[in-house]
This record gives sequence, structure tokens and C-alpha cells, in this order.
Amino acid sequence: MKKDYRLPSLNEARKRNKEVSDKVTFFLDEQYKGLGDGKKYYIITHGCQANQRDSETMAGLLEEMGYSSADDEKSADVILINTCAVRQGAEEKVLGEVGALKRLKTINPDLIIGLGGCMAQEEESVKTIIEKYRQVDIIFGTHNTTSLPKLLSEVIQTKQRKIEVFSKMGEIVESVPVTRFMSHKAWVNIMYGCDKFCTYCIVPYTRGKERSRDREDIIYEVKELVAQGYKEVCLLGQNVNAYGKDISDEYGFGDLLDDVAKTGISRIRFMTSHPWDFNDRMIEAIKNNSNIMPYIHLPIQSGNTGILKKMNRRYTREEYLELFDKLKKELPGFAFTTDIIVGFPNESDEAFEDTLSAVEHCQYDNAFTFIYSKREGTPAASFEDGIDRKTKEERLQRLNERVAYYANLNNQRFKDQIVEVLVDGISKRNSKVYSGYTPENKLVNFTGSDVKVGDLVKVKIKEVMSFSLNGELVEE
Ligand code: 5AD
Ligand code: SF4
Repeated sequence: MKKDYRLPSLNEARKRNKEVSDKVTFFLDEQYKGLGDGKKYYIITHGCQANQRDSETMAGLLEEMGYSSADDEKSADVILINTCAVRQGAEEKVLGEVGALKRLKTINPDLIIGLGGCMAQEEESVKTIIEKYRQVDIIFGTHNTTSLPKLLSEVIQTKQRKIEVFSKMGEIVESVPVTRFMSHKAWVNIMYGCDKFCTYCIVPYTRGKERSRDREDIIYEVKELVAQGYKEVCLLGQNVNAYGKDISDEYGFGDLLDDVAKTGISRIRFMTSHPWDFNDRMIEAIKNNSNIMPYIHLPIQSGNTGILKKMNRRYTREEYLELFDKLKKELPGFAFTTDIIVGFPNESDEAFEDTLSAVEHCQYDNAFTFIYSKREGTPAASFEDGIDRKTKEERLQRLNERVAYYANLNNQRFKDQIVEVLVDGISKRNSKVYSGYTPENKLVNFTGSDVKVGDLVKVKIKEVMSFSLNGELVEE
């Protein structure tokens, strides 16, 4: 095959400039319309909420081309895998999945398999896929989602593999079609990329520099969602607190929160906040608007200043705890969660104990805990690490026990209380039980009748577990 592509480059992706990103308006070229008529697509999504939202864009593009969604992989003409590169385990899972899809190609030789998302931005992963996974027909990067119609059409016509991955930051593309996977809760991108460069993290390379969407575009999107009956929006960004910094000196995330709240949407959430940019204006906006949900995710990553420094997190243990205590005081009743990495290169026993004591101090409602995973191309990949795997696993287990203890303790306050639940659906474990989330983002399983997805209902909590609550519908 003639090489008509460039491999992605993490080195190129590392570069940053001060230029404001171009904004372009998407439209689907006439030549691609109808190409998918009578055909079906299936999307497998890995990773974070940004990927979930990107998959909705992929679905929107395919549907505008005429494709409709398939119930499973077997009945699909196009299968897209939206990948995650944040940890090695996520990549291995994808490769296993791609391996298994080969079988489907022997049954249906016309099946087209596409691989997008963060793995597609990594040089080594792309090389592996090109060499060892011939069944993949399209590799498209995180900045290349809107090229999908073109790439698909080329593969159909030429039967040749197509690769398009830009390593530079990309534009902001508006008016891209979207097929949302839920009818009551919506992801709304407010910014793309990350400029923080935590030393363990691949995201600033795979998703490029921080680029904020214009506030008018965001507000318009939320207003449309309200008109369509959506009850909840989650404002998305790798670091939402930095919203607007690339386009305006005056208008920041706190201002955006106020404006989104004015749309009247019932529930507003946001993900993720970096402690570095969490300012008083944000706290004020959160306090002033009752439709901003009482839930904050504030990743600490480590409770030890030395490790935080090596992680390039830009705060000390004391600074984090000071911010945390302030938020806890100013925002009573709020639930707080965090992300923690154990086993960062050469994390000593004392450093790990500092993380445990920070968890004890903050008494989080929940924490997402991970063993450090080496990501080639990041600064931490070259740090020496004398800590063995078994020690890291033991630390994770000890940490998880503490996290579960405080999760349970925090949940006790809901016992016998009546809470508001936004209904997501029928519980996976028991079809007579509904499930949904409280404003504090607590998962509630409850019994009741005549309840629909998207209803906001009142539930009396009868039983409290570490990571969920059980209750009964309160008839009104
Ligand atoms: N190893 C382990 N965990 C990681 N995270 C990001 N990069 C890595 C890595 N290399 C975790 C961080 C981040 C969350 C989304 O994933 O805790 O907040
Ligand atoms: Fe990764 Fe740090 Fe950016 Fe989060 S803030 S995406 S952990 S570099």
C-alpha cells in the first residue's frame, strides 16, 4: 500500500502557541449524503465523558450520511471504536477487542472497522495497529472526527485503509451533527484540550491545547436542550475552571455557570475541576444558582507535596487542603469526590501515608483510584521507579478500604431522608427497581411504579450502602 498518511507525533502535539483557535462551521458535503442508506453502524466507546460526547458526534455524522444504529456488532456495516489512552489497561482492552472483530470480517468482508480517539493520537499505538491489525480500515484522530464521512467514502471506493491523524491542536468546529445517546441528560463541551501537562498524563498530547468554545454557542446549545426537554447538562472539559482563558480576560467559568443557570435547565454539573484555577467567582456562581448541583469533583492525585511536585500538579498538599476546607465551608451539604494515583514513580511509604491522611482529612464521598500507569512520551515515563507492583497493589487496596469507609459514612446522612432523583432507567440487577441520581450524584435504586426515564421524582431512602442508596418512590 502506498503510504499516503503521516503518523501522529507526540513531540509535535506537545507544542503550544498563544493563537486563538479558528472556529469553523461544519456542513456535510452533498457527495456523502445517502452513502449509508440501508446500512448500519455500531460504536464502542471507552474512556471519559469527552469520549462519550465524541461518540455522539460520530453517530450524528453517520446518521446524516444515512446510516442507522445497529443493535449489535454482528449486524453492523461500520464499527467504530472510540479509544482511551490514559492507562495501559485501557489500550490493552481495545487491542483485544480489535482482535476479536477480525472474526466478523471473515463473515462480512465489506465490514468497515474504524479506530478513533486518544490511542489514534499515539505514534506507537498507530504503528502497532498498522502492522498487526490489518482488519482496521480507518484510523482517525481526536482532531479528525469530522473527516469521518470523507474517510468512510474513500474506504468504500478504494478498499484501501485510510489514516488521518493531526497532531496539532485543531480547530473548534461548530454545528456538527449529534445523535445524543440519552434523552434526559446531555454532555456539553465547553472547552477542548489541556495545557496543564501533569507529568503522568497523556491527555495534553492526545487532545491538544486548551480551546474554549464561544459562550454564545454553549448557551445556544443548552437552550436547545431545554426546549427538547432535557433535564440535566454536564459541562465538559479536561479542566473546566480554565474556561475562557484562551479567548477573554473578562469572562470565565464562573460567568459561564451563571449564564448556563439562567437557561432554566433543571440540573447543571461540570467535569473536571483542577484545584489550580478554582476561584471565588466560581464559588459565588455555584452558591447563587440552585440548579447547579451540590457536587464537586476535585482531583487531588496525591496527598504528598513531593509527589505533587513531581507530578507537576502546581499545588502543595497544604494548598489543596486549604481550598478543600474553604469549599466545604462555603458549600455546605455538597458531595466531594476525587481522583487518586498510587504508586507514582518512587512513591515512598511516607508519601503514600500522606495520601491516606489527606483522604482522612477530606472524607470524600467517593474517589476514583488508580495505580500509576507509565505512558510513553510523558515526562514521568523516564522517572526511575523502584516500587514493585505488589506494593502498589497493596497500597491501592488500603486506599480503597479508606475510600469505601468514608463513602459509607457520608451516605448515612441520607438514611430516612426524602431525596430528589433524576430517573435514568431500570436497574440492571432487578427489573422492578428503577435507578437514578440525587443532586449530590448519589446512585439511588428504588421501587415504584409509573416512572419514566427523565422524571424527577421523590424517593425515601431506606437503606444506605457505600456506593449506592436504596429507597421507595414517594407518591405525590
Ligand atoms: N496512570 C494512572 N492514572 C492516570 N490518570 C491519568 N493519567 C494516569 C496514568 N498515567 C488518572 C488521573 C486522572 C484520571 C482521569 O485518570 O487520576 O485524574
Ligand atoms: Fe491530565 Fe493533568 Fe490535564 Fe487532567 S489536568 S487532563 S490529569 S494533564
